[in-house]
Amino acid sequence: MTAQVDIDRVAARIADLRQKIEYHNYLYHVKDTPEISDAEYDRLFRELLELEKEHPELASPDSPTQRVGGEPLERFTKVEHHAPMLSLANAFSEDELRAFNRRVTGGLEREDVAYVTELKIDGVAIALTYKNGRFVRGATRGNGVVGEDVTANLKTVKQIPLKLKGAGEHIPEMEVRGEVYLPLSAFNSLNEERADKGLSQFANPRNAAAGAIRQLDPKVSRSRALSFFGYAIGYIENGEIKTQKETLETLQEWGFPVNTNFRWHESIEGVLKFCSGWEPKRESLDYEIDGVVVKVDDLEDQKVLGAISRDPRWAIAYKFPGQVATTRLKEIGINVGRTGSMNPYAVLEPVRLGGVTIKLATLHNQDDVRRKDIRVGDMVVVKRAGDVIPQVVGPVIEQRTGKEKIFRYPDKCPSCGQPVVHEEGEAMAYCLNRECPAQLFEGLNHFISRGAMDIRGLGPSTVLKLLELGFIHNAADLYSLTEEQLAQLPGFKEKSIRNLQEAIAESRKRPFENVLFALGIRHIGEGVAALLTENFHDLDALLNASEEQIAGIMGIGPRIAHSVFEYFRDPQNRELVERLRKAGLKTEKEARARKSGSLTGKSFIITGKLETMPRSAAEKWIEEQGGSVLASVSKKLDYLVVGADPGSKLAKAQKLAVPTITEKQLFEMGTE
Ligand code: IVH
Repeated sequence: MTAQVDIDRVAARIADLRQKIEYHNYLYHVKDTPEISDAEYDRLFRELLELEKEHPELASPDSPTQRVGGEPLERFTKVEHHAPMLSLANAFSEDELRAFNRRVTGGLEREDVAYVTELKIDGVAIALTYKNGRFVRGATRGNGVVGEDVTANLKTVKQIPLKLKGAGEHIPEMEVRGEVYLPLSAFNSLNEERADKGLSQFANPRNAAAGAIRQLDPKVSRSRALSFFGYAIGYIENGEIKTQKETLETLQEWGFPVNTNFRWHESIEGVLKFCSGWEPKRESLDYEIDGVVVKVDDLEDQKVLGAISRDPRWAIAYKFPGQVATTRLKEIGINVGRTGSMNPYAVLEPVRLGGVTIKLATLHNQDDVRRKDIRVGDMVVVKRAGDVIPQVVGPVIEQRTGKEKIFRYPDKCPSCGQPVVHEEGEAMAYCLNRECPAQLFEGLNHFISRGAMDIRGLGPSTVLKLLELGFIHNAADLYSLTEEQLAQLPGFKEKSIRNLQEAIAESRKRPFENVLFALGIRHIGEGVAALLTENFHDLDALLNASEEQIAGIMGIGPRIAHSVFEYFRDPQNRELVERLRKAGLKTEKEARARKSGSLTGKSFIITGKLETMPRSAAEKWIEEQGGSVLASVSKKLDYLVVGADPGSKLAKAQKLAVPTITEKQLFEMGTE
């Protein structure tokens, strides 16, 4: 490979990473709907840092590495932090902690370095400014340099002192940093309450806390029972504090809640004991912790050590080993995704990890496997973070025997046998055959999934059967499945048929953004789908949008815009969305649809059996579109919808010259 090709490839990867990181920053910091784990995000960030370090000629002032994070929401005032709010590098083992200690002692040219260990609270980092002992401003981390002013919300957190005690009263200005979090008990009751009200559940306390902090209405924040622990002083005028231990003690004296489980250690040995000791005890706490933060105690030493990019050299986050395990990688398999992506996965020798046995783990993508040099037969480190699928972190190179094999990517799709295409700038290789059975299957499963059309009771095995029977070829076919067809599914009886019909009918109510997400357009997650529908209120606006118009939306980069534009330019895709529209799916943003339903002012009666849904479901749907359902046929009736084996209502309607329509015409009318 020539040097030019090589550098082009690196430049493309850097561009790709910057865009991905920006996108995930936006989801995480602005929208509170992350799609990837923190660990995965860190991995992307680290890869970008490494590449930029290796290729300083490709550095750019607008790289995410230059500003640590994402754009704050426009609706909150922006606040610049006194000093950047940093993040932390991770250590996953005792060895990595010892390596950290070696870097520290090396950097300070001294062996006797004392540390403070603190629990790493899984919440939201904030900065609180006090002037003359009074709380004047509170801000989120935002992009690390500029955050959002959330003072009003933070004032509702009872643990945050509005006026400081003791000597704190006299300090002209200072900034205290800490973590706002939701206690587990409060998190559980919040979710219970939400379930009672039919609202969606928060995935974890951190998301619930982040959402509460960013509420525009402070009353909503107050109702979330947030809590706070202080752990650092970001800035202080005339301060005399010399160590981290003193910082924590002083914060307590001034009236801040400090997590009292911190300890001082004269050397790394105590740190190791503290870290291993806390793992089994974490369950006893009423808040979630995701590790231990290890900090050099002396603040002068911290200054000497400084930071590399966004990570301080004087602190590290130790992650509990419950989340990582080592095992053998037996095989690499390829899973063809709904967008045709060739997703490599690892078949592992079974290993216990976080209370469950893991046999499979994701390998992310082809570039990742190559970059980390993961070989078949390697001992690999596997990691689980939160509720995300296990991932292969990397190989244990020291344990190589020489028998490991470099994985050769197939150049043909394992599902359909068509050639695989690996485009420049894409980390993934793709099968471009739209008839590819694996893609069809995965695409349909995505379509019916929660967050998309959420068709309850329709699972992958039924989808597979429907495909095998030739009853469906794409998502639109789901809406014309007849009772007769469903009756051919193994185990489907009258009740299960009816339930499935109702679930399919029910899915017509999903908002436009779900429909857009359900289409499975490459790079379009739930967050992007919502952004698109906020800016293009109906399907036609989107169908007619230029690539530039789509790219003009804040939070949507050129790659996403290109993907959306290309998708809707394709005649086959256009036909699919037209069919979905005709089937009665929502193709307009909710608020507009509600104001004047497409059936407003029209009255209907249904007679006979409908093909695609029970009569009751169709009647509900008519009402949701603004139409009314009458009880008996009269001259006032606008339409009689005629199904199979109609009753006497048909004859009566004909006599009164009331127009009759079919089920299909009804849905078309409702979506005009
Ligand atoms: S110290 C440069 N101490 O962890 C030092 N952070 O990944 C960074 N966190 O953004 C902050 N508990 O939100 C520190 N006792 C603790 C912490 C803690 C939780 C969070 C904090 C920070 C993230 C770093």
